[in-house]
Amino acid sequence: MTSIIDGKRCATLIRSAVAQHVGRLRENYGLRPGLAVILVGENPASQIYVRNKARLTEEAGMLSLDERLPAHTPQIQLLEVIDRLQRDPAVHGILVQLPLPPQISPEAVFAALNPAKDVDGFSPLNVGLLHTGGHGIVPCTPLGCLFLLKQQLGDLTGLRALVLGRSNIVGKPMAALLLRENCTVTIAHSHSRELAAECRRADIVVAAVGRPQLVKADWIKPGATIIDVGINRITSPDGKTRLIGDVDFAQALGVAAAITPVPGGVGPMTVACLLFNTLTVACRQHDIPAPELTLPPPDRETSSRPG
Ligand code: GUN
Repeated sequence: MTSIIDGKRCATLIRSAVAQHVGRLRENYGLRPGLAVILVGENPASQIYVRNKARLTEEAGMLSLDERLPAHTPQIQLLEVIDRLQRDPAVHGILVQLPLPPQISPEAVFAALNPAKDVDGFSPLNVGLLHTGGHGIVPCTPLGCLFLLKQQLGDLTGLRALVLGRSNIVGKPMAALLLRENCTVTIAHSHSRELAAECRRADIVVAAVGRPQLVKADWIKPGATIIDVGINRITSPDGKTRLIGDVDFAQALGVAAAITPVPGGVGPMTVACLLFNTLTVACRQHDIPAPELTLPPPDRETSSRPG
């Protein structure tokens, strides 16, 4: 039996806890956290993500600011918009949606972000704090993955974790977080040898490579817990499109102890963690104790841990 990890349910619990906290901030301090999201260009997937973020930000009782810039926007102009928003006291958190058009360097954008308002955790200071054990802001997708893992497994100490993919957004920060949880961590990527064998040794697999159904049944250690970050849109022979992960979900059933579905696994957790990060930066900017991300009570039927 393989448990299906319900990211949607977990995300709903986090968002409602954030909304309650936002309500208390308004009552006790007259403070309303504000999140500005900047989208450069018309990438269709990004447009959907940004719309979704704005809707859920408002649903949590926070202020949502939506900044749209044309695809040909020069880098200097984007940096000016970031600077303006960073000076605005109503804006506590800023997110620049990725990917960016080719004339804009993501590194230049991250370097320009005020770490105190960087809800993505991509600014050099926040990246450094994650790797040195400090209390910066942790990138939303890896934070959501860790939350699901801890809810499923409890203490992760000593477990072997394989992170498939070495992106700055997911793979590297995920590995740093797992190391912080005392896992034995391996990062694998497109040049890694014996990928299947590496994967088969792992108690925890976090797949974030963007290769549809790369991970097959015989890659999975029986009893492993699998977090699938992949969001790959494929077209079926009947012309319909659907989303699939980096793991062959049907094959994993019956081998893994637990797995996140795509969609409905990591995706909703990313936005919930963005709202949590926005609440955190707003509290820190006003010297108000920031809330902890607490685990909901474990669901007995879905709890499992490899022996
Ligand atoms: N595009 C895909 N994932 C992310 C993310 O986590 N943050 C930002 N800013 N853009 C993204």
